[in-house]
Amino acid sequence: MEDLSNRVAVVTGAGGGMGRSIALALAAEGVDVVVSDIEGDAAEKVANEVRELGRRALGVATDVSQLDQVEHLADLAYEEFGAVDILVNNAGVTMRPFRASWDTELRDFQWVMNVNWYGALHGHLAFVPRMREQKRDSHIVNTSSMTSMFTVPGHSAYSASKAAIDAFSMCAREEFKIAGIPIAVSVFFPGAVKTRVGTSERLRPEADRSDVRHVKPWTDYTSTPAAAVGAENLNGLTPLSEVTNFMQPMHPDEVGPLVVNGIRQNYDFISSHPAPADLIQDRADRLANSFHGLS
Ligand SMILES: NC(=O)c1ccc[n+]([C@@H]2O[C@H](COP(=O)([O-])OP(=O)(O)OC[C@H]3O[C@@H](n4cnc5c(N)ncnc54)[C@H](O)[C@@H]3O)[C@@H](O)[C@H]2O)c1
Repeated sequence: MEDLSNRVAVVTGAGGGMGRSIALALAAEGVDVVVSDIEGDAAEKVANEVRELGRRALGVATDVSQLDQVEHLADLAYEEFGAVDILVNNAGVTMRPFRASWDTELRDFQWVMNVNWYGALHGHLAFVPRMREQKRDSHIVNTSSMTSMFTVPGHSAYSASKAAIDAFSMCAREEFKIAGIPIAVSVFFPGAVKTRVGTSERLRPEADRSDVRHVKPWTDYTSTPAAAVGAENLNGLTPLSEVTNFMQPMHPDEVGPLVVNGIRQNYDFISSHPAPADLIQDRADRLANSFHGLS
């Protein structure tokens, strides 16, 4: 999508962090923005920032884990603006402390999957039928995470939710292309960004909470201390600082322009940091050589 001016975008989880940055970067390019967040006040505040940039905006309280609420968001967006050209399924949560898969309760998996994976799917189901009818070029960005590119011990629920987004997005992108539907899909992979995501548990419904006093932190199984992001040894053995630069924390304000550029250039993958090529290559090599026969 080369010309973004006078387009309309919907951004979920846009009450703060990267969603806010994406909403403001879009507004700076001349896009009207529906700012949605489970925290309605935060959404309204960012909608005001969009208005200050001279664009129209709507702040909407939406819990993306609930399909009926995302359908309501779509109804409001179409009533107000008559079209939606850009959909950014960005809302997401993570758990602290990091924990082993066997120490993770079913309701932990369900909460993370409901917000991260089903949240993105709900956006797709609620908006795509109407985006298709518009018959003009449109773009969907689904926020994944660099943690789905390689193995992150202690982070299985989150990684699974983001890997689902990756696979789904690539299927949808190809399906749109094959069917001649002018909707592009990008997967956005943030590395470490300094946001409030580590405090996501504050948004978790009381009934869905596991008793964190009884959660054994992943770091209890390892010999290295916990880092700010929750796990020092992302590859299981080696301190992060020795193997990566993609975990150098970035300010969220830097993220919006990267995503907008990705929409403009129609990139299938957009990363916030240089991707960890060695870890990706190692995984690709092991997959490519995964037929071992019956030796
Ligand atoms: N910060 C990082 O280092 C990092 C790294 C990789 C991926 N991500 C992903 O980036 C996205 C944005 O996160 P962020 O880092 O800006 O964190 P953030 O917590 O600042 O922003 C997430 C926003 O989503 C909202 N939200 C949470 N649950 C919701 C729900 N059920 N319905 C609607 N909104 C909801 C929150 O209120 C918040 O405003 C998330 O999908 C996150 O998983 C973050």
